Amino acid sequence: MNLLVTGGTGYIGRILVPDLKRKGHEITVMDRGFLDYSDLENEYEGVNILREDIRTCDPDLLRGFDAVIDLAALSNDPSGNLNKIATWDINYIGRVRIARLAKKLGAKRYVVASSCSVYGFRDDICTETTPVNPLTTYAEANIAVEKDNLALNDQEFRSTALRFATVFGYSERFRLDLVINAMTFYGYKNHVIKMMRDGNQYRPFIHVKDVSRALISSIESDNDEIGGRFINVGNNKQNVQIRDVAEMISNKIGEDCRIELYGDPDNRSYRVNFDLSKKLMGFETKYDIAQGVEEIIKRCSEGLEDIPQMHTVDYYKKLIGYEKELDRFANIRPKILL
Ligand SMILES: NC(=O)c1ccc[n+]([C@@H]2O[C@H](COP(=O)([O-])OP(=O)(O)OC[C@H]3O[C@@H](n4cnc5c(N)ncnc54)[C@H](O)[C@@H]3O)[C@@H](O)[C@H]2O)c1
Repeated sequence: MNLLVTGGTGYIGRILVPDLKRKGHEITVMDRGFLDYSDLENEYEGVNILREDIRTCDPDLLRGFDAVIDLAALSNDPSGNLNKIATWDINYIGRVRIARLAKKLGAKRYVVASSCSVYGFRDDICTETTPVNPLTTYAEANIAVEKDNLALNDQEFRSTALRFATVFGYSERFRLDLVINAMTFYGYKNHVIKMMRDGNQYRPFIHVKDVSRALISSIESDNDEIGGRFINVGNNKQNVQIRDVAEMISNKIGEDCRIELYGDPDNRSYRVNFDLSKKLMGFETKYDIAQGVEEIIKRCSEGLEDIPQMHTVDYYKKLIGYEKELDRFANIRPKILL
């Protein structure tokens, strides 16, 4: 297939794009390059990279694709809160623009990477029928984009939203704002794992390689029942308490790695059911938390210096001057709608 991957040089994109290449797809990446991607090497050879913003790119650039995998976003809760306007502009208006243009210009399939964080914190186990409870701008924008982009679904254009669990695992654009990645990296580096008191909170997790597998399954699937829906993607057994993960990481790093508690007790939990992705997409995860942690430790043992230590929020702080961005919006707003 001839595919467009927006945001394809980020944390997930760095795994997904090489995976797609190995499967023989033709790939164009559109990424504004919020995060440096001057280090892209062989894995992106043959990939057409457009350094463009999804909000302002020439519509014609969307012509000729069979399918679009939409990853471009300000990608976490703190970044979303840092600049709410930019979050709405990119994560909602920008992604709706891409889906509408893709449909108008002939794409047949579209998938957007949404998040299980739309469920907020709650005691019961969330399924796709659980009412959403967005607690951040990031989650609100995900719900809005799901609604508008799933409404584009019809016989000619299959539109799907995948609600991913929290991702972990190594990628060449390693994210240290993700809890398992951070606990492992700093546990290895400082021999201390900092855990928000008391670690009883549950979170659903998925390995970044499984995220890539799920995105590919959704685009390649011939089951049109996945159109017009949001689908949770993760593993029922990987709804785990943070303290269990911290203990596992500490054991894998070695005896001298201790767990240090900080903050007030954090009772904000959520757990998610992932049966629907198995039923509709035949999707099951292949990689567990232990494997992801071992991979990060192995990578750390090869040298910490050259691991890109990316705190997404720090990057965005640097790259999106709040005032500057507000000024820019005044000029680009008329252009961002179709
Ligand atoms: N990592 C997770 O835990 C997780 C979980 C659920 C969903 N997601 C979603 O998956 C997607 C990818 O996540 P990631 O972890 O790879 O994030 P990332 O921040 O590493 O990558 C996002 C990419 O999008 C690009 N981008 C941002 N705004 C853009 C714009 N206006 N135009 C063009 N490109 C733009 C950035 O330059 C970056 O390369 C995001 O939508 C994120 O919300 C991630």
